Amino acid sequence: MDKFVIKGGTPLKGTIAISGSKNAALPIIAASLLGNSPSTIRNTPRLQDIYTFNNVLRVVGAKVDFQEEQNTLEIDPTGVSHLEAPYDLVRKMRASFYMLGALVGKHGYAKVSLPGGCAWGPRPVDLHLKGMEAMGIDISLDKGYVIAKADKELAESSFTLKPSSVGATVNLLLAAVLRTKKFTINNAAKEPDVVQLCNFLVKMGANIEGIGTDTLIISGVDELKGIEVDNDPDRIEVGTFMIAGAMIPDSDLTLTGCNPDHLGSFLPVFKKTGADVKVDGTTISVKAPKQLKAVSIKTEIYPGFPTDMQAQWATMMTQAEGASKVTDTVYFDRFSYVPELTRLGADMHLEKNTAHIQGKTPLEGASVMSTDLRASVSLVLAAMVAENTTEVLRVYHLDRGYESLEHKLNAVGAEITRVDE
Ligand code: UD1
Repeated sequence: MDKFVIKGGTPLKGTIAISGSKNAALPIIAASLLGNSPSTIRNTPRLQDIYTFNNVLRVVGAKVDFQEEQNTLEIDPTGVSHLEAPYDLVRKMRASFYMLGALVGKHGYAKVSLPGGCAWGPRPVDLHLKGMEAMGIDISLDKGYVIAKADKELAESSFTLKPSSVGATVNLLLAAVLRTKKFTINNAAKEPDVVQLCNFLVKMGANIEGIGTDTLIISGVDELKGIEVDNDPDRIEVGTFMIAGAMIPDSDLTLTGCNPDHLGSFLPVFKKTGADVKVDGTTISVKAPKQLKAVSIKTEIYPGFPTDMQAQWATMMTQAEGASKVTDTVYFDRFSYVPELTRLGADMHLEKNTAHIQGKTPLEGASVMSTDLRASVSLVLAAMVAENTTEVLRVYHLDRGYESLEHKLNAVGAEITRVDE
């Protein structure tokens, strides 16, 4: 299992090119299965989660060609015939559950494993299933699998998501676009990843009104064609590197290929830390301030502060002067990084779904354990400001969601070595 050995204390100076978004790519990869001809997705990141999903597509009979040098993914769905996504693949990545909507939407039948547990507490899929039932799809459970069956044309219906869910919105869109007379999703997710999916589906020939709002109205069409698109940049990678630039003393980072509009409330909140931020088109530059200010945040659905950024924010706050609170209202248990940061010297504790942080504390290198994707990158951020050397164990979590992380950071001054032990 690989680990990172990180020597802290070196400033980051230079330019990093932002990769394509994992969470935006996965829904459109699933959507490509709805076409009657191949699709091409450019700017697809080389990530473990993408490789896993490619394998799920291959299992059902799609032809998948990932030209990794070019980050170009070609998917030919015309051979899909085995309408089943097995547990050993779905358990590796929850988003494989998108196969349910894609297969039942296109073929009228799907058998997909329930995703199983998650490192950050319960992550139910009840809304995906209730929404499909509201659409008129027959849902049954059999030995850990969901079996979905749908008639050719489903009657007009609607469903309200409570709470709003990215995954359920994606699955319902995938199921609905070819199959319903008319289906309305109320309180739909408005995340850029959902907007990209809607635009992808419309380009394929789907009829969706209300894109970018929380009411999506889908009128079914008879067929969809394969298309070529550029995947969105990864807004969480952008935010993570902005935090690196702000919290590592003397850093001066330029991030290219960003979409600043996708940052939602993250950008104005970030400016409150005193970091020197400049946005120029698709380029964002961040200079570390002399002293970071403590800023409390609370995660919300988009355009609120993203839950995928709260661990990195809490890590930055260990280096800010004063007290701050980081509250996660989306995932209450997403704080497994707190004891690990404490091992490095952070002064923080957890009360329910709020981390209370007292800065600024010097961090000192130690061995720490990655527990999930965003917790892991937070440990890398902490290690880069810590004195001496930090070992971050189990970095396979990082390989799921950050393309070439250590290469990108080392190119701008970090000292990260990957060790296979
Ligand atoms: C996606 C992202 C993940 C991000 C999260 C929130 C992907 C692959 N993953 O996850 O990185 O952290 O959005 O921005 O894009 N819920 C239910 N029942 C359901 C579904 C969700 O109660 O059936 C609840 C969840 O427990 C959570 C909230 O809804 O409290 C939002 O979850 P959701 O938006 O569905 O997250 P994911 O799509 O799984």
